Amino acid sequence: MARAKPVVAIDGPAGAGKSTVSQRVAEALGFTLVDTGSLYRAVAFLAAAEGVSLDDVAAVEGVATRAVASGRLSLAAVARPDGPGRVTEVRVGGLFPGDAIRTPAMSMGASQVSAYPGVRAALLDLQRQFGREGAVVLEGRDIGTVVFPDAEVKVFLTASPEVRARRRLEELQARGVEADLASVLHDVIARDARDAARSIAPLREAPDAVRVDSSQLDREGTIDAIVRLVEARAGR
Ligand code: DC
Repeated sequence: MARAKPVVAIDGPAGAGKSTVSQRVAEALGFTLVDTGSLYRAVAFLAAAEGVSLDDVAAVEGVATRAVASGRLSLAAVARPDGPGRVTEVRVGGLFPGDAIRTPAMSMGASQVSAYPGVRAALLDLQRQFGREGAVVLEGRDIGTVVFPDAEVKVFLTASPEVRARRRLEELQARGVEADLASVLHDVIARDARDAARSIAPLREAPDAVRVDSSQLDREGTIDAIVRLVEARAGR
């Protein structure tokens, strides 16, 4: 059945500017932003909190499955504190873990657990529930390929590793996390390799996605290009 409002899938590697761009696109359209990476981060966070080794695939899969089934891990759409529209926040046991899921260690942990099939399966429905009605922007890695292969608009947002590392470093520094460019670039390349090489839901571009390279466009240009794309598709 056709949705009244579109599902907008924005996939791409870490540091391409996805979070800010997706947020601004959702805001411009009055859609809800669904940050799917936060779910993988929350699984790594929960496993660590429960003393489960991230190398133990079955145990981590068990943590994710139980947490979703019991409602301990959930997504909530909340009004944005700093602007119009709504955004999802991940909840762990009713609490918002906030920046605790945004450390470099949780980035690596999320990348690791996201390769586990049982973790991806556990998180699939949670993501689909939010998109079902449309009027959403989902930001992730496999939205246009796996979660919503029927998304009305698919964008693959990318940028060179150097540009992405520089942006990530600025984000970390803005949050007071100490880091240097060489190690951030190393992490970016390592995560790319892992995200692209895994056999389960590797990072790849949907054949019908529109590729937007944000190393060549400034932020406003990138946001504009995507909003125009959505409007053009909706007008058909
Ligand atoms: O977008 P992010 O940096 O918060 O994502 C954290 C990790 O989760 C990243 O290494 C890839 C993974 N991820 C995924 O596999 N599928 C998604 N839809 C979103 C994120």
